[in-house]
Amino acid sequence: MRKFKDHIFICDKSELYTLLQESFFQQSVIVMSEQSSRRYGFDSLLKQLSKQNGIIWISSFSPNPTQADLKKSLEQIGSFPFHHILAIGGGSAIDLAKGILALYKKKESHTEIPSLKAITKYIIEKNYVDNSSLISFTAVPTTAGTGSEVTSWATFWDVNSAAKYSIDAPWLVPESVYLVPELTETLPKRLTASTGLDALSHAMEAYWAKATNPAVKELSLEAVKKIIYYLPLAVTDSTEPNVREELLLAACTSGLAFSQTRTTACHSISYPLTYLYHIEHGFAVALTLPQIAAINQQAVPDIEQLLHCFVTYGGISPWLQTVCRGITPLRLSSWGITEADIPKIVEHAFTKGRMDNNPVPLTKQDVTQILLRCL
Ligand SMILES: [Fe+2]
Repeated sequence: MRKFKDHIFICDKSELYTLLQESFFQQSVIVMSEQSSRRYGFDSLLKQLSKQNGIIWISSFSPNPTQADLKKSLEQIGSFPFHHILAIGGGSAIDLAKGILALYKKKESHTEIPSLKAITKYIIEKNYVDNSSLISFTAVPTTAGTGSEVTSWATFWDVNSAAKYSIDAPWLVPESVYLVPELTETLPKRLTASTGLDALSHAMEAYWAKATNPAVKELSLEAVKKIIYYLPLAVTDSTEPNVREELLLAACTSGLAFSQTRTTACHSISYPLTYLYHIEHGFAVALTLPQIAAINQQAVPDIEQLLHCFVTYGGISPWLQTVCRGITPLRLSSWGITEADIPKIVEHAFTKGRMDNNPVPLTKQDVTQILLRCL
């Protein structure tokens, strides 16, 4: 096991397996890991351990978790007094774990488990419980993308596809993170591409965010350079060594960058593309990346350093085409979106704390033009 940064370690699957057996399962644990954990060979261990007292395995939730997933998880946990939560999975598993940490023991007067309506209200009003002194939190990301393993927030999607919510509190950052490149080796190409593009967007948006600083820019450039080189290799089954490890480290580095800045216009515009038209998050953010980068040139003089990283590919757009070749054309029309849909998307594209974190202010007219060029 090697230390990557502070509380973040790189290890192989057998080291993680030993750690799970010896450490985590001697205490009361909630394990968040989707059924697809069989993909990384932990399902039999989890099944075996979940038969013991003291472990609850939550294995069924949506790829874009909603308030309903949170309610179902809280029901499964009930009054189980757990001391540790372990999330093994993509952003959805880690985000759902954060939701549990924020709302566990949140009770309405007449019932133990909050209703769907109450959960929505707690999320909107940021009315959480600080369980951090009682419950420790470990994350094992199995995609190289969301950076959720190092951020203090989680994304939840409205159960009626009407909004995107953030759960956000400083105590939601996992205390221990284990990066296991082998766990990402069997990711399907489409998921590799979309999660990798999400990580790229986090790094680029952190670079130009209003809230950026020189240390963030350094992390961003480190992540961007790695993703530009390694993501096209990962989606073409390259045999070059270390591809998956470098991508996992790059996504984590990108997470460390945007954990200090949050995201900007690309993410803000992406949210309705995901909850209204079901575009995978990474493709939804990458769709507008070239145009937003071009617009932001006027306010961020040193953006040239960032754009220079794409020079061998001829720019951001040709690089994106290389990554998405054989997976999906990166056009809104690929998801059935037409010009008639644009006004509705624009209405939902202005998320507070994201759009106003873009260095160049954008109007509804600007966003309309950006989206029309993405059709
Ligand atoms: Fe993202």
